[in-house]
Amino acid sequence: MKNGYELFVRPLLFSLDAETAHHLTIELLQKASHFDPALRVLRSFQPSSKPKTLFGLNFPNPIGLAAGLDKNGVALPAWAALGFGFIEIGTVTAKAQPGNPKPRIFRLPEQRALINRLGFNNHGADAIAQRLAALRVSARWPAVPVGINIGKSRATPLEQATDDYLYSFRMLRDFADYITLNISSPNTPGLRELQEPEKLSELLHAIGNEAGTAPKPLVVKISPDLSNTELKAVLEVCSENGVSGIIATNTTLDHSSVARQLDQAGGLSGAPLRDKSTALVHEIAARSTIPVIASGGIFDAESAAEKFQAGAQLIQLYTGFVYRGPQLLREIMDSL
Ligand SMILES: Cc1cc2nc3c(=O)[nH]c(=O)nc-3n(C[C@H](O)[C@H](O)[C@H](O)COP(=O)(O)O)c2cc1C
Repeated sequence: MKNGYELFVRPLLFSLDAETAHHLTIELLQKASHFDPALRVLRSFQPSSKPKTLFGLNFPNPIGLAAGLDKNGVALPAWAALGFGFIEIGTVTAKAQPGNPKPRIFRLPEQRALINRLGFNNHGADAIAQRLAALRVSARWPAVPVGINIGKSRATPLEQATDDYLYSFRMLRDFADYITLNISSPNTPGLRELQEPEKLSELLHAIGNEAGTAPKPLVVKISPDLSNTELKAVLEVCSENGVSGIIATNTTLDHSSVARQLDQAGGLSGAPLRDKSTALVHEIAARSTIPVIASGGIFDAESAAEKFQAGAQLIQLYTGFVYRGPQLLREIMDSL
């Protein structure tokens, strides 16, 4: 049976082009974030809490907002009011950038999937740090962990990636409960090469040496398209460098499940990613003690349970939330 969002809200949103619908939703949530009566309405969707502690942080529940939905960190109070147990903003890059030409988000409703090639459109580390500083003094800072996902600016050559990440890290670390290094988006040329052991080692080393007085848990977000050998190498480098968590996974470049006439260049997310992402979670949990945050194709209680059974400690939602709305949170929580 369809929930209220699926019956009344989704048809309206899906009548608009995908990016327009996205901006409309974010704008409404941004407005709600400044308006207490609206936050109270959003809280009526909130599931009960199922607390969990991981890398020293207290999560009221294990269901998080995945990176990319709130790239600029404009609606933190609203996401918390909706009941997310943690919120990951970003990907933020050192330099503000517009991303790729539009259209760049595509719905595949039959498959309950999305393809995107946004290319890290975001306001940049300086502007986002300012926004977060203002939120912090406003007394509306959410009572759930906030992760900040950082990535490489497109204009920065890959050889200078470390400095680019370091810039964002320095600007944003004070606002983050954890920092995610995104080295797996398929839409920034060369980014996934940072998963190669030498490059990843250099990046983790540099960030690790920066940790300063209040070190923040460092999380690495990986691609579902890694081979077994590549995954093993990534895990080794992450262990050696004391990485606190791994997010498995980002979107996939494997479009074999997509009909040719519907296909688009970009990262595929949603239901077609589910099995691949679960397999990686399983593989990581079997090979390593680093906690896993699962992301990929979570649409209901069953697909969420599958991730926990595979060994995930926490989960994150993106495409499932676009298709199923806030009631998805409650549906999953009620089953835990
Ligand atoms: C439109 C869109 C934009 C995304 N942007 C980002 C991003 O900026 N950074 C990132 O790490 N992941 C990004 N992702 C990936 C999601 O965070 C998530 O890892 C992926 O979509 C798999 O989960 P899902 O199947 O629940 O969507 C994006 C995904 C979508 C669909």
